[in-house]
Amino acid sequence: MIDTHEIVIDKVESSKITHTDFDNLTFGKTFTDHMLECTWRDGKWETAHIKPYGPIMVEPSCKVFHYGQAIFEGMKAFKDATGEVFLFRPEDNWKRFNQSAKRLAMPEVPKEVFIEGLKKLVSLDKEWVRYGEGLSLYLRPFMIASENGVAAAPSTEYKFMIVMSPAFAYYKGDVRVIIASDFSRAADGGVGYAKAAGNYAASFYPNNLALAEGYQQIIWTDAATHEYLEEAGTMNIFVRIGDTLFTAPNNDRILNGVTRRSVIQLAKDAGISFEERRVSVKEINDAAKNGSLKEIFGSGTAAVIVPIKGYKHKDFVHELPIIEDSYANRFKEALKDIQYNRAEDKHGWRVSV
Ligand SMILES: Cc1ncc(COP(=O)(O)O)c(C=O)c1O
Repeated sequence: MIDTHEIVIDKVESSKITHTDFDNLTFGKTFTDHMLECTWRDGKWETAHIKPYGPIMVEPSCKVFHYGQAIFEGMKAFKDATGEVFLFRPEDNWKRFNQSAKRLAMPEVPKEVFIEGLKKLVSLDKEWVRYGEGLSLYLRPFMIASENGVAAAPSTEYKFMIVMSPAFAYYKGDVRVIIASDFSRAADGGVGYAKAAGNYAASFYPNNLALAEGYQQIIWTDAATHEYLEEAGTMNIFVRIGDTLFTAPNNDRILNGVTRRSVIQLAKDAGISFEERRVSVKEINDAAKNGSLKEIFGSGTAAVIVPIKGYKHKDFVHELPIIEDSYANRFKEALKDIQYNRAEDKHGWRVSV
């Protein structure tokens, strides 16, 4: 832990923003003027630095390349009509980051570095948060093992960094999914609940196979039986059967989503019948056949809520009905209204930077 809140700031001489074409951005490719870097060495966090965004020097023997000791978070900053900028539930991300750190045998990052670092960085690059429907600044805190050496043991040095990328709402096209009956994302006792970089690497191959079949995502099922729905690529999954909303309970295979938690709260606020329990693939398929399966949607920071248009499970293919006033749409609008400071923030989710 550093015993001071000091974050040293070294500003760019001139901003890149004037050369940035905000109308033609590719998600995650453009980065703001500054980044934060903080090194853990000799058992403690050194002073955090905010500096111009740019390359970092690492040796080829750097441990992150060999053993994948790497974790990250994904969050967003939003601008309201008056130009004020907000983070959404940042403490939830900080806590989850440290749960990931613990599981990967990495040091926990103090709140002064994570939250204050985010606030300072976002306010410095405030111009990069655009105001408008679906516009935001995507924030990517991450940590890598930075010790040199190829011995298979936890690193003795780490780099915690934050980089930021302007993001926009784009229509992803229809999303259809394969419900996994073969590959698994995570196993009992593993790292599924952590935002470990390797979890994502491991999902790319099965996801490529799904894409080749014309499906954009996979809904993972439990590794032991493949009978129960768990979550999707970067989203938790909700199912509406009749008028009841279901989502799988958190366990050590599922990432405990901030958006998921927010949707559950909004469902409760709205008096929607909701159950947090395991939902079997058989139950979904039966509901699809008898017409009671109304909606499946994903929740996550990147796209807030993503309605699923159809799914495939083994040989069974099903198209979801088009629903007027869907739960998916209601939650999406309600969440956006809170994020953009257009609605009352009853639960204290917005944090001004
Ligand atoms: C595997 C996985 N599940 C669920 C989520 C959704 O989490 P959140 O709502 O906190 O973005 C994410 C995205 O972070 C994810 O990577």
